[in-house]
Amino acid sequence: MEIAPGAFHFKRHLSLDAQRTLLAECRALVEGPVPGYVPVVRGGGRMHVRMLCLGRHWNGKTYAYEPARSDFDGLPVPPLPEHWKALARDVARAAGMTGIPLEADLCILNYYGADGRMGTHQDKDESEASLSAGVPVVSISLGDTAQFLFGGLRRRDPVEKLPLESGDAFVFGGPARLRFHGVSRIVPGTAPPELGLTGRFNLTFRQY
Ligand code: SIN
Ligand code: MN
Repeated sequence: MEIAPGAFHFKRHLSLDAQRTLLAECRALVEGPVPGYVPVVRGGGRMHVRMLCLGRHWNGKTYAYEPARSDFDGLPVPPLPEHWKALARDVARAAGMTGIPLEADLCILNYYGADGRMGTHQDKDESEASLSAGVPVVSISLGDTAQFLFGGLRRRDPVEKLPLESGDAFVFGGPARLRFHGVSRIVPGTAPPELGLTGRFNLTFRQY
């Protein structure tokens, strides 16, 4: 469903089986040798998510991408799995973004607990070439429903609230690539019981 030019919401894009498989991979990564952590951003505030970057690390102090986590523990960023890249490519293609295909080279994996949230922001730390081409960001959600906020190109523009449920994909590219967005809250207890997940994972795939 196209909710604005260049912005698409695919409800329940992933089957329950696919969600279960992806969830197991997310858990293994976040609890693995390069674990998820709570970033402290410029100005000293702690984010309200546990983050793990794959492919390239997003530094919350500099808002720049780098190969190792110099704002946290210095560990090298784990690679982005090939089959995750393929998943992101397929979702972008399903949105009809054929002229500007997504060759994701990084994914930001965030875990939101019951009090998880993310202030409205633009995803604008990727390369000038990627941003100006409107290469889409593909977001995939697992677990508890998020109240997603989707605004315009200016911070003061009106914001649409839409629930992102487990298995949903959301794509924003082309003219929507720099729209403001965020997560105002997580709705506890809404994850499919079969997943056995409290909270929410969100994966955003981007091309630097
Ligand atoms: C993000 O904007 O990076 C995350 C969005 C989400 O969690 O749905
Ligand atoms: Mn974002």
